[in-house]
Amino acid sequence: MGKLDGKVAVITGGTTGLALAGAKRFVDEGAYVFITGRRQDALDEAVKQIGRNVTGVQGDAANLDDLDRLVDTVKREKGSIDVLWASAGGGEPALLGEITEAQFDTWFGLNARGTLFTVQKALPLFNDGGSILMTGSNASLGAFPGWSVYAGSKAVQQAWARVWLNELKDRRIRVNVLTPGQVATPMMEEVMDAEAKAQFESLIPRGQMGRPEEIAVAALFLASDDSSYVNGMELVADGGTTAL
Ligand SMILES: NC(=O)c1ccc[n+]([C@@H]2O[C@H](COP(=O)([O-])OP(=O)(O)OC[C@H]3O[C@@H](n4cnc5c(N)ncnc54)[C@H](OP(=O)(O)O)[C@@H]3O)[C@@H](O)[C@H]2O)c1
Repeated sequence: MGKLDGKVAVITGGTTGLALAGAKRFVDEGAYVFITGRRQDALDEAVKQIGRNVTGVQGDAANLDDLDRLVDTVKREKGSIDVLWASAGGGEPALLGEITEAQFDTWFGLNARGTLFTVQKALPLFNDGGSILMTGSNASLGAFPGWSVYAGSKAVQQAWARVWLNELKDRRIRVNVLTPGQVATPMMEEVMDAEAKAQFESLIPRGQMGRPEEIAVAALFLASDDSSYVNGMELVADGGTTAL
């Protein structure tokens, strides 16, 4: 028996990286998943890789019309949601003094504003007893130079999880934050050169970045009833980097 048998899960930003690994794991555990991403070709490839029990919905998680379309599709195809994993996110380095208005608006627009509206728009379809998880970042726990915009745009999630679980307690909907450390995904390839990667790896106790599958299993824990008594918490999966 799977840990998510019969459940419907919506995962934003699920066409590559750690959320794709999570989507595969959720399907292996019996869920039907909806994944999103902006690039149609990457979405098609991800749907092919997952292979069954999956619908790809093209869209930008920072765009409220796209989020409406996502929710409409889920409503039409499945009628309700048990698990929402708001994972679409990203960032780029910029030191204080060099941060542009556009960088602030882009990353707060996706990581903060986009996440809030993803949750809000999905809520009417949520079954009682469901689970909401958001992908944070251990950047918001550390003090990594150049990452203040990213860290700030992810840090809001902790506050939201606490307030929302209180607002949603009558529906027994749990809200948690999944906080990865450095994980070897396409995003990391994009934002880090070899030197930056080596520098980050030197901060990880085991000296090696996480694998997407190591985040997927943490997401499965928060999504499933295994974490039925875990609510409003931040699950940090960073190999101990921010504990040091
Ligand atoms: N990798 C890490 O070390 C790390 C560490 C801490 C936190 N995180 C967080 O984990 C999440 C996933 O990161 P990742 O490393 O797995 O990234 P990734 O490999 O680049 O994957 C990001 C996924 O999200 C999609 N995406 C990006 N922007 C989107 C948008 N505006 N709307 C909808 N989909 C969007 C991408 O597809 P399209 O480009 O086609 O849209 C892709 O499917 C992010 O929230 C990131 O901040 C990552």
